[in-house]
Amino acid sequence: MAKILVLDRSEELAEQIRSFAEELPNDPEVVSCTKIGSIDHVQEHDGPFSVLVAGPSLGTRAGLRRLAAIHREQPGTAIVVAFQNEPDASLREIVQVGAIDMVDYPVDDLSLRAALKRALEMSQRIGAVTVYEPIYQPAEAVPQTHNARVFTVCSATGGCGKTFYATNLAMFLAQNSSARVALVDLDLQFGEITTSLRLQPSYTIADVLSHEDEDVDLTTHIEDYLVQYEDKFWALPAPKEPSQADRITPTEVTKILDVLRTHYDYLVVDTPTALAETVLAAFDLSEHLFVMATLDLPSVRNLGLFLQTLQKLRISSDNVSLIMNKVEKDVGIDVEQITKLFPQGFRSTLPYAKEVSRSVNLGKPILGAQPESDIAKRITYGLTQFLPPDARRRLEESTAASGIKIGSLSRLFKRRLVQITESAR
Ligand SMILES: Nc1ncnc2c1ncn2[C@@H]1O[C@H](COP(=O)(O)OP(=O)(O)O)[C@@H](O)[C@H]1O
Ligand SMILES: [Mg+2]
Repeated sequence: MAKILVLDRSEELAEQIRSFAEELPNDPEVVSCTKIGSIDHVQEHDGPFSVLVAGPSLGTRAGLRRLAAIHREQPGTAIVVAFQNEPDASLREIVQVGAIDMVDYPVDDLSLRAALKRALEMSQRIGAVTVYEPIYQPAEAVPQTHNARVFTVCSATGGCGKTFYATNLAMFLAQNSSARVALVDLDLQFGEITTSLRLQPSYTIADVLSHEDEDVDLTTHIEDYLVQYEDKFWALPAPKEPSQADRITPTEVTKILDVLRTHYDYLVVDTPTALAETVLAAFDLSEHLFVMATLDLPSVRNLGLFLQTLQKLRISSDNVSLIMNKVEKDVGIDVEQITKLFPQGFRSTLPYAKEVSRSVNLGKPILGAQPESDIAKRITYGLTQFLPPDARRRLEESTAASGIKIGSLSRLFKRRLVQITESAR
């Protein structure tokens, strides 16, 4: 007897097919699988299937990779995709998974029945041992074994500009290289990445975990939970409700970051001010920490304590960069003296700039909104070494071509520092 497998997070499509299944050739049995991670089990138990109908929740890159893998293992199953009008994948990618037909979801009974009838007939022709192979092997079906570089932005005091810096770090990496960048909001209670980038996410980090309870395969579906910022980078938002934050454990944070690392080239992690266990979990995976401070005594004092804590955690100071932010004249504190307190020096000293508020109000990182501003250039200068080597060379060449020598920028910065220091006296 012919069998149809319906793969989708919701039961609706399977119900619809069941309602007219007896009118299809050979009155096929309709099996539904709503836990996409359990597909292998279902195929082993209830397969083989003549037809597989992939519902709208498979209409993502991760979903298509999953379908491509199924197609390779079960080439005798004819795949029909029922995706929403604008799936998050190109037609070419859909063709590459070996789908023989595509309907727009939601779909009326008549069109769906016609598509399934054709698919059933075709699968009969190709038979159980089929020879049809996809023309292309989708590149993305190749398992990725690489591990993203993880950068975490943190501070001992609130309001230092962590979120500001983290969004710009993600933007910097995405703008200057072809790397895939994911920005993760680990400020689980009061995360502001979505607000500061004006994103409207469907999911948050809390949903990743709640679906995991339902046995969804994280590795395959993690990308579905991220929201894209323009065409630059992806973001995994903090939970919508602060109360959801408590339920997220450090082990879960590690797990999510580990899975994300296999899908992206860089992870940028924004954190809350407190050194929570979940933040320490991110530190453990981080190649580099960016520690922010502002030019006021409590912040500087806490920066000292924070660095001592990092030492106790055996995080090498080579893997830590200090960023002094919101530097202003006439605030009664001497930048030079402060820099002396921290012999490792500051990677960047960023001025207090009204362009920052403007960029936040626009919902754009300043590197996108005002790349020519002094603060944007300083951020760029401080981060160049974190690019992949070829991208770094390109950036250095273009900076040289535009007449701004990194050296002169640093001299300029030193001069400004002295000016600020003097005027603060
Ligand atoms: N260099 C700067 N100049 C002016 N305003 C800044 C600067 N850096 C950050 N801000 C502003 O300060 C506030 C706090 O920054 P935010 O990134 O949210 O800090 P944190 O994430 O550390 O709490 C925001 O309103 C931000 O726009
Ligand atoms: Mg923040």
